[in-house]
Amino acid sequence: MEERSQWGTRAGFIMAAIGSAVGLGNIWRFPAVAYENGGGAFFIPYLFALLTAGIPILIMEFTMGHKYRGAAPLTYRRMNKKAEGVGWWAVMVAFVIATYYSVIIAWAISYTIFSFNLKWGEDPTAFLVGDYLQVADPGTFGGLVPGVAIPLVVVWAIVLFILFLGVKRGLEIANRIMIPTLVVVFLIIVFRAITLPGALEGLDAFFKPDFSQILSGEVWVAAYGQIFFSLSIAFAIMITYSSYLPKKSDITNNAFITGFSNSGFELLAGIGVFSVLGFMAAQQGVAVDEVVEGGVGLAFMVFPAIINEFPAFNEFFGVLFFLSLVLAGFTSLLSICETYIAGLQDKFGLSRTKAVLFGGGASALIAFIYATRGGLNFLDAADYFINQFGVAVLGLVEVVLVAWVFRKLKTFKDHANEISDIRLGNWWTISLGVITPIVLGYMLFDLFRTNLLRLFPTDNGNYEGYPDFFINYSGWAVAIGALVIGIVIGLLPWKKNPEEGDYDDR
Ligand code: ALA
Repeated sequence: MEERSQWGTRAGFIMAAIGSAVGLGNIWRFPAVAYENGGGAFFIPYLFALLTAGIPILIMEFTMGHKYRGAAPLTYRRMNKKAEGVGWWAVMVAFVIATYYSVIIAWAISYTIFSFNLKWGEDPTAFLVGDYLQVADPGTFGGLVPGVAIPLVVVWAIVLFILFLGVKRGLEIANRIMIPTLVVVFLIIVFRAITLPGALEGLDAFFKPDFSQILSGEVWVAAYGQIFFSLSIAFAIMITYSSYLPKKSDITNNAFITGFSNSGFELLAGIGVFSVLGFMAAQQGVAVDEVVEGGVGLAFMVFPAIINEFPAFNEFFGVLFFLSLVLAGFTSLLSICETYIAGLQDKFGLSRTKAVLFGGGASALIAFIYATRGGLNFLDAADYFINQFGVAVLGLVEVVLVAWVFRKLKTFKDHANEISDIRLGNWWTISLGVITPIVLGYMLFDLFRTNLLRLFPTDNGNYEGYPDFFINYSGWAVAIGALVIGIVIGLLPWKKNPEEGDYDDR
C-alpha cells in the first residue's frame, strides 16, 4: 500500500476544507432557504444549528480523521469494529451527491459560455427547460442532451485529473488557486449588486424577521439541513480530509476558521442575491417576494433574467456569476469524490491511480443519467431524498454512536485539546451528547412521519407532486440503496489488517 498522503501546509488544509464547505449550497441554496423560512428570523435556528451541531460535529470529524488516520470507513472501523458500515453508508451518500453535483457544474459551465452573448434571450425559463435541458416527463430518459453531456465530460476530465495528482499536488494546489479566485470574483459581484437601484429593498426583504414561523419544525429542519450540507459534514468528507493532517496539527481552531468562513460566505451570498432580487423587483415594479426562487430556478432562470436587465456590462457580470458557481462547485466536488477514492485505497489496497479510475470513473459514468432529457427530474428527486434521508439521518447516527454507544466524547475531547490552541469545554460535550441528538431525533421523527404517510396514497401528495413510481425508484431507492450498498461493502474483507497502522488507538 502507498504511504498515506499529507497536506503540505496548514493553510493548504484550511483552504481545502473551506473549498469543500463553500459550494453550490452557499450560493444557490442558502439565500432562498433563509428567505422562505422567516428571513431575518431564520438566523436564530441557523446560528443555533451552527453552534450546537455544525461546528461541534466539524471538530468531532476533524478529530476522528486525525486520530484514526483513515477515510470514513477505516476511521469508523478503528473506532469500533462494528461501525465500519456507517462509514461506507456516508461514502455512498457522497457518491450519489457527486453524480448529480457534477451535472450542475456542467450547466454552470454552459451558462458561463452563454453569458458572452446572453444566449438565453428574453425568456430564460423557456430557454432552460426547452432549448437547453429539453426536459422530458418524470421517469423517462429520452436520450442524452449534448449541450449538457459535453461540459459534463469536461467536468469529469478536470476532476479526475486533479484527483490523480493526489492530495498535495492535486487537491491542495487546486484549492489554493480556485478559492482566492472565487473570493475576488464574488466580492466584485456583491459590490456591484449592493450598488444597484432597488438593492436596499431586496436586503430589507431578506433581513426583515418574520417570527411567526420560528416555532415551526420545518424551519428547524431547513436550518439543520442547510448547515450539514453546507459544512460538508456527516457525509464522510471532513473525516477524509483531516486524515491527511500531519500529527502536529491544530484541530479546534481550524474547525472554527472553516465554519465561520463558510457562514461568512453564505451571508455574503445572501446579501448579493437579495440585492439583485431587489433590483429586479424594482425594474418590474413588483414586490421582492414575487421574484424569489431557490435552487435551479434562482441560478438558471432568475439570474439570467436579472443579468438581461443590468445597466451595463451585462455579459461580464453573467460570466462572473456563473464562473463563481463553477469554482465553488469544483472545489466541493473534489472533496466529495475524495471520500470514495480514499475509501477504496484503504480497504482494497488500491493504488491512487486505480482508485481514481474505478471510483471516480463509476461516478462519472452514472452522472450521465442526469444529462438525459429526464435528468432534471432525476436530479431533483435524488437531491431531496439523499439530503433528507441520507445526510440528516447520518448526522444523527454519527452523534448517537460517538456520544452514547461508543462513549467517545471524552477521548475525542482530550485528543483535540492536546494539540489545539482553543480548549474544548462543556459546551462541546453538551451540544453533541444532549442537544443535537434531541433536536435532530425529534426533527427526523417528524420528517419520517410525514414522508412515510406519503408513501401510501393520501391527499398529502408526493414531494413536488411527482408520481409514486417515480418517487419510489428515484428517491427512496437511491436513499435506501446507499445504506444497503454501504452495509454490504462493509462486510467485504480488508486487503490489509485495518487494526494495524500508525494511529492513536486509545
Ligand atoms: N458543502 C458543499 C456545498 O455547500 C457540498 O455545496
